[in-house]
Amino acid sequence: MARKKQHNKDKEEATPASTSAAAAASGSAPTEEGGEAQPTAAVVAPEEPQPAPPEPHPPVEVAYCGDPSEADPFILILSCWPNQLHIHEFASYILYDVDLDILLYMVVVVGGHGKVSLRLARLLSPSHTVVSIIRDASQSSAIQETGATPLVISLEAATVQEFTNTFQGQDVVYFSAGAGGTGGEERTKAVDYDGAVKVYDAIEAVEGQKPRLILVSGVDVRNPDIIPAHYTEADKQVSQRVRGHIATWFKWKYEGDKNLVARNTFKWTILRPGGLTDAPGTGKAAIGRTSITQTVTRDDVAQVLALLLDREDAAGLAIDLAGGDTPLEEGLDAMIRKGETDFFG
Ligand SMILES: NC(=O)c1ccc[n+]([C@@H]2O[C@H](COP(=O)([O-])OP(=O)(O)OC[C@H]3O[C@@H](n4cnc5c(N)ncnc54)[C@H](OP(=O)(O)O)[C@@H]3O)[C@@H](O)[C@H]2O)c1
Repeated sequence: MARKKQHNKDKEEATPASTSAAAAASGSAPTEEGGEAQPTAAVVAPEEPQPAPPEPHPPVEVAYCGDPSEADPFILILSCWPNQLHIHEFASYILYDVDLDILLYMVVVVGGHGKVSLRLARLLSPSHTVVSIIRDASQSSAIQETGATPLVISLEAATVQEFTNTFQGQDVVYFSAGAGGTGGEERTKAVDYDGAVKVYDAIEAVEGQKPRLILVSGVDVRNPDIIPAHYTEADKQVSQRVRGHIATWFKWKYEGDKNLVARNTFKWTILRPGGLTDAPGTGKAAIGRTSITQTVTRDDVAQVLALLLDREDAAGLAIDLAGGDTPLEEGLDAMIRKGETDFFG
């Protein structure tokens, strides 16, 4: 179901390709609180013809709903791509894709050339505006093939301010970067911890509405002294073996997650997948307080990340994800409704 999203005019003028959400195809409008859409006559286009979008953008078919002078007008998009739309008349607005029945978002993916990130960009780009951050310009064409826009910024070299500038006006930031175990502890710390903290600080410095952060961490990333009560003997053995093997990775992922969990100035969700594989996705998994013995495919991780785009109600949760038999959306929904975080700090 579509949820209400809102952009303000200043934000849109800074980023004219901005997109967002709202209203129902069947002659309904969202409520102030973002709840269920209510029937309304306002979806009928006004009698006065509306000005065409400025050239060189192709014409778009838009029904203007509500009075631009009102505090909370909304617009029903009938047919257009987000980056072909310019809106100047409204103090604030919300957009909704009628054909796809979804809200439209502006998204940044940090670690854009990663195996999970490329899959995520392919899932999101047909409907949303996606910028994928890379550190090597030669990866640009691979990013463009996903439908996303490449942006070269190194997590290690760039300043917090550079990231803040990039995040300004965005709805959601995904962080799926990692040193991948190369370069020793120094580099793992620099990317998985310092890089993550840089992104948190950059989001905090965004003026006005701050983007939500959806961060990829890992299952069993925790205070080493707290063994989760739901772990079986098999889980404990896997934990001990894997933690011994990649202790540095666990250490810096944990420090990064601990730092994030202590923040409350922006909304965040942590996804904690188990060991990743490149096998085809199954559309199923175990989600929330899982056994950690089962690997999970990158396809399924990307699917869950894509589902989280529209799950603002997952804010404040760390979510375990491992191989299993529950359909992804069902498992994620149940976990979020339960509201029990999987981060043991
Ligand atoms: N492997 C597992 O079994 C496992 C399990 C649980 C969680 N995770 C985590 O899941 C996440 C995604 O995994 P994945 O398989 O997609 O990882 P991946 O393919 O190794 O992708 C990580 C991305 O981070 C980028 N990166 C590294 N240093 C950077 C820097 N200084 N600036 C900007 N980007 C930088 C890498 O760029 P380059 O392409 O230029 O190197 C790479 O594209 C990672 O955070 C990983 O730690 C992995």
